[in-house]
Amino acid sequence: MIVISLGGSALRPTENFDIKFMKSICSILKSRISISSNIGKNSKNNKFVIIVGGGHMARIKANQTREKGGNEFEADMSAIKVTRENARAMAEMCDFGQSKIPTSFRYLKRMISKYPIVFMGGTIPGITTDADSMLAAEMLNAEKVVNISSIAYIYDKDPNKYKNAKRFNSMTHKQLLNLAIKNDMRKPGTHFLFDSVAAKIAYRSNIPLYFVNKKLKEIEKVLNGKRQKGTIVID
Ligand code: UTP
Repeated sequence: MIVISLGGSALRPTENFDIKFMKSICSILKSRISISSNIGKNSKNNKFVIIVGGGHMARIKANQTREKGGNEFEADMSAIKVTRENARAMAEMCDFGQSKIPTSFRYLKRMISKYPIVFMGGTIPGITTDADSMLAAEMLNAEKVVNISSIAYIYDKDPNKYKNAKRFNSMTHKQLLNLAIKNDMRKPGTHFLFDSVAAKIAYRSNIPLYFVNKKLKEIEKVLNGKRQKGTIVID
């Protein structure tokens, strides 16, 4: 079982979907299931949960809710709706048989027992799809989590602002947690590559975490167990 956190900014960098990227992800996943069906059906290794992020549209919808007087809970609910729309768009494009987008972890557990690949969006306000991905991985005893976004490496500070920012090729779960706590204020504009709730779950469950950018070659490497360009979080 592999859980993939598919960043909304990678899938939908503007209002529009990156259709070419989406199609490529579908074909990578398709080839993974056909490879593993030769090895043995229904093995846990054959399964993928893909938690899809909200990206640009989630921020727009959350702001619209705020402008109408909505509180942060309601703004998050609007953003979650977008993550689910994005998950549906992926599910429809890949067409692996999934008819509904699970809205809870319990529902996800039922679906992944039926299908080799399940797409899902957000769950509850106050977190992000990074945390959903870690929780799904923990629940399902996943072997690893792959985080696909526009950025592959974690730095100790913002590399756009600080020339001396240190890049991590690999780091421990504790290091990730400390950095995430330091940087993640859960406020717009204070975005860190991985949110602190997600880092906490990663730390306690000790699941290896692989960061990778949108390059298909690199994504294939991670799924094949080869070294990708991007930070690895492992103890
Ligand atoms: P994302 O996980 O996409 O957040 O969820 P992000 O950090 O902005 O990631 P990128 O930039 O797309 O990679 C979008 C928003 O949806 C709400 C939060 O408001 C989050 O910022 N959300 C998502 C929740 O409230 N709960 C969830 O379970 C998931």
